[in-house]
Amino acid sequence: MSKQTRTARKTVKDIAAAKGGTPLVCLTAYDAPTAALLDPHCDLLLVGDSVGMVVHGLPSTVGVTMEMMILHGQAVMRGSEQAFVVVDMPFGSYETNADQAFLNAARIMKETGCQAVKIESGAYAATQIAHLVERGVPVMGHVGLRPQAVNVDGGFRAKGRSQAERDLVLKEAHAAERAGAFAIVVEGVAEDLAAEITREVSCPTIGIGASAACDGQILVTPDLLGVFEWTPKFVRRYADLGPAISEAAAAYAADVRGRSFPGKAETYSIAKPDSKGLRKPEP
Ligand code: KIV
Repeated sequence: MSKQTRTARKTVKDIAAAKGGTPLVCLTAYDAPTAALLDPHCDLLLVGDSVGMVVHGLPSTVGVTMEMMILHGQAVMRGSEQAFVVVDMPFGSYETNADQAFLNAARIMKETGCQAVKIESGAYAATQIAHLVERGVPVMGHVGLRPQAVNVDGGFRAKGRSQAERDLVLKEAHAAERAGAFAIVVEGVAEDLAAEITREVSCPTIGIGASAACDGQILVTPDLLGVFEWTPKFVRRYADLGPAISEAAAAYAADVRGRSFPGKAETYSIAKPDSKGLRKPEP
């Protein structure tokens, strides 16, 4: 293998091998500079279709397109070096049949250079997962609360509150595992169900709002950074960027209106010519 093609990135084998070990650290990322800041700390970066809501201001992930996922996937690949990068397949890009899923997954992988895709895997999607894995596309499953199903569910609701719902989530997790998913996101379920899934499937489970019983954790990064006023119960806010951004913008506005910005330090001036008539470039 030539030097150019060697990579220091984590591989699907590294992620799969973490089952039952030190919890996998995963976060969502959507742009290059943020990916660069998150990369040294994370095993896996997910270019989630949550980008539709937290970056583009959409009411749900349903409106997210292939083009959006590819553009953000490219940015995250440029910004990161060592994390395993997964790009979400958006609503409408894989459900029709296995061929549709493969064409779109292959396009995402070719155009972004990411290492895997994620599918919100209702039991039916096992066909798509198996088809992709057989053809060289690593797939991460996603069970429990599936945000792309918001219109069927009538909102973003935690899953597994009834026995029937519990059984369905467990069935979906087994289906994704059997189809060859290398890991499964488990979203919005109670601890005992997360623990049962984690015990029963052989691949790592990555929890979001699914307790510490999973093999790893993921959060939507702007939630963890405190960009929004409201965050779900399961989020821990590690920073308060929303108020910090707002205060910075307010201070800038006051300085501009009060004519104290830009000041001397932020202004270029033409250097005086020296004895030879030359102007030294400004530092
Ligand atoms: O789109 C996303 O950010 C996700 C996470 C919630 C796992 O799927």
